[in-house]
Amino acid sequence: MNHLIAPSILAADFANLQRDVEMLNESHADYIHVDIMDGVFVPNISFGIPVCEAIFKHAKKPLDVHLMIEKPENYIQAFHDAGAATISVHYEASPHLHRTLQSIRDLGLRAGVAINPHTNVQLLEDVIEITDLVCLMSVNPGFGGQKFIEHTYTKVRRLKEIIVDAGANTLIEVDGGVNIDNAPLLLEAGADVLVAGNFVFKSENPIHTIQELKNVQF
Ligand code: DX5
Ligand code: ZN
Repeated sequence: MNHLIAPSILAADFANLQRDVEMLNESHADYIHVDIMDGVFVPNISFGIPVCEAIFKHAKKPLDVHLMIEKPENYIQAFHDAGAATISVHYEASPHLHRTLQSIRDLGLRAGVAINPHTNVQLLEDVIEITDLVCLMSVNPGFGGQKFIEHTYTKVRRLKEIIVDAGANTLIEVDGGVNIDNAPLLLEAGADVLVAGNFVFKSENPIHTIQELKNVQF
């Protein structure tokens, strides 16, 4: 499978959100990654449901919603209604993860699990068959523009083994500090989806940068 690129709208210019979403529409981006932070699960607040709706109104690419919030199970319906195609909830915020994943799928969406850098991928073995995407955090969630954690390569490889052993077709997404230098190594390790915020939006030509990430050979 060709790898997918999911620019993170967190790094966009919020005063020009429509312009930036339209830029992504014209690009080779596969998804628009939407980071929701509640100031409780993570030490930062991003934006919520009405902004997600506003993004959806202009987006021609599926929304990949990453919920960095407590009690994500209470907001699945709301983000479905706000246009999510995929919803990822954090393992660390989900005491009833199996039920939550099932409820995402029951709404016809793709179900994702995000894990923090300290969370072992083996903990996902018992839900991998009902997980469409694992969002491996390669920074501690809460902020864009952080430094990539090198241990992520090992986690991607271990997770890939778990997915293959289970005969599942779960996608591996890597989120945080992704750039043109680590992208080939991540893809080689088995990543399927690369999220990139600052590397795309702070570049001189975001459309060209997305194309570069899409063209990475490994
Ligand atoms: C971090 C978010 C990431 C972030 C990525 O908490 O989940 O999606 O927007 O941004 P960069 O690519 O700048 O690290
Ligand atoms: Zn994210």
